[in-house]
Amino acid sequence: MAMFFPGESHTFSEYLLVPGYSSSECVPANVSLKTPLVRFKRGEEPSISLNIPMVSAIMQSVSGEQMGIALATEGGMSFIYGSQTPEQEAAMVKAVKDHKAGFVVSDSTLTPEMTMREVMDLKEKTGHSTMPVTEDGTPHGKLLGIVTSRDYRPSRDDPSSKVATFMTPREQLIVGDKDITLKKANDVIWDKKLNALPVVDENDCLLGIVFRKDYDSHKTNPNEMLDANKRYMVGAGINTRDYETRVPLLIEAGADALCIDSSEGFSEWQKRTIEWIRENYGEDVKVGAGNVVDAEGFRFLADCGADFIKVGIGGGSICITRETKGIGRGQATALIDVCRARDEYFEETGIYVPVCSDGGIVYDYHMTLALAMGADFLMLGRYFARFDESPTARVNVNGQYMKEYWGEGSARARNWQRYDLGGAAKLAFEEGVDSYVPYAGSLKDGVNSTLYKIKSTMCNCGALTIKELQEKARLTLVSATSIVEGGAHDVVVKDRNHQMVSYQ
Ligand code: IMP
Repeated sequence: MAMFFPGESHTFSEYLLVPGYSSSECVPANVSLKTPLVRFKRGEEPSISLNIPMVSAIMQSVSGEQMGIALATEGGMSFIYGSQTPEQEAAMVKAVKDHKAGFVVSDSTLTPEMTMREVMDLKEKTGHSTMPVTEDGTPHGKLLGIVTSRDYRPSRDDPSSKVATFMTPREQLIVGDKDITLKKANDVIWDKKLNALPVVDENDCLLGIVFRKDYDSHKTNPNEMLDANKRYMVGAGINTRDYETRVPLLIEAGADALCIDSSEGFSEWQKRTIEWIRENYGEDVKVGAGNVVDAEGFRFLADCGADFIKVGIGGGSICITRETKGIGRGQATALIDVCRARDEYFEETGIYVPVCSDGGIVYDYHMTLALAMGADFLMLGRYFARFDESPTARVNVNGQYMKEYWGEGSARARNWQRYDLGGAAKLAFEEGVDSYVPYAGSLKDGVNSTLYKIKSTMCNCGALTIKELQEKARLTLVSATSIVEGGAHDVVVKDRNHQMVSYQ
């Protein structure tokens, strides 16, 4: 007879934290969100810790080069999406590793042949008005000029005029060379009264742009995730099919951690992938695995040697796996079960394998709940897709700015490798949708506001670290009626912004 898990499976919105005693020491400024990323032995330190408990999802619509840079700047880590060729993925990893803090890679590069109308459309999409012009239209192509909003007048000029006719051409631009430091670049910006300084290599190819405003912000990034050579840290997604070619390229490009991206990870395919990495790279290459939703799945992957284990099937915002296949488990219950297994594994073996709660975070407080339930860190898709730095277009839908966000199992992403069941790399049905999410501005502002909320709640629980939160947290299940009580109720709300809105 089939096995039945006892009780129901619950999700985050069905839980609340009951505050504990907080001393006068418990203020957000004293909270540390540092957390282990990879396995470590009792009494030792993990070789990689995150400074904030957030990683970005292994998705085309979330984790590209700019996300990698922006998130590492704030203290988390991106896992660059694997549903592209190994060469393309390695190039993105390398771009993050090569990126110098404060040197922005443009998300709105033009070619000289584009029209003023296209420039205006791009500005609308990205919100950025300074656009480099390169020979091939790529952010690292040969620099031909720059367009800013001072170069054209939308109301008076011909919208079909070509970029080449109104850009500031290369010969009139002041540029920095590849060895310029951020400090020197800032001096040039001030001396020459510039708003932006393009930086080029010896072939005049664009490396990045230093903006006047970014120099100051750089000085206020105390959480930056930097490797031993002071380069940004970045992860990369892999699959259980082409790892023999993909992994070497990613390692060569400088990836700091890998993660097997799969909808369901309790499988021989994951075991084989981890074994191959161990045979070829020993313990030096860090690899996460998943996803699982119960203790047995955790133990299997921990025994395989996974460096961290992701939890979650069917809870992702763009996910329709539960509807199409009938597999999954409420995210909170799955997480609690797996975290208990992690603690038992640690007791038994002296090895701590960090757990990542992946998908299903809707409100900021869900993150605090997930950490309280035992997650060491969180993987977020929808949350990050909303920011400027996600690789997707910003579009105006009925007067509201939105960003596009689509699942890896959608027909748009065609990432059939993450659903590997050993057959042809092709699926007969979709497990994800294509969607919009409300645009939310810059990652920096969004993440800092979220972290402040997390820290505040931790203080209410008397916890100054994530570990302390896990030990001290007191959680309660809520009834459907008390969920209604939790929002504004029985009043006519004047300001609609005070109604509970996702992510606030
Ligand atoms: P979110 O943070 O709720 O948007 O969930 C993001 C997570 O959903 C990812 O990290 C993946 O684990 C998962 N995911 C990504 N694409 C798909 C899909 O197409 N179907 C099901 N799950 C997906």
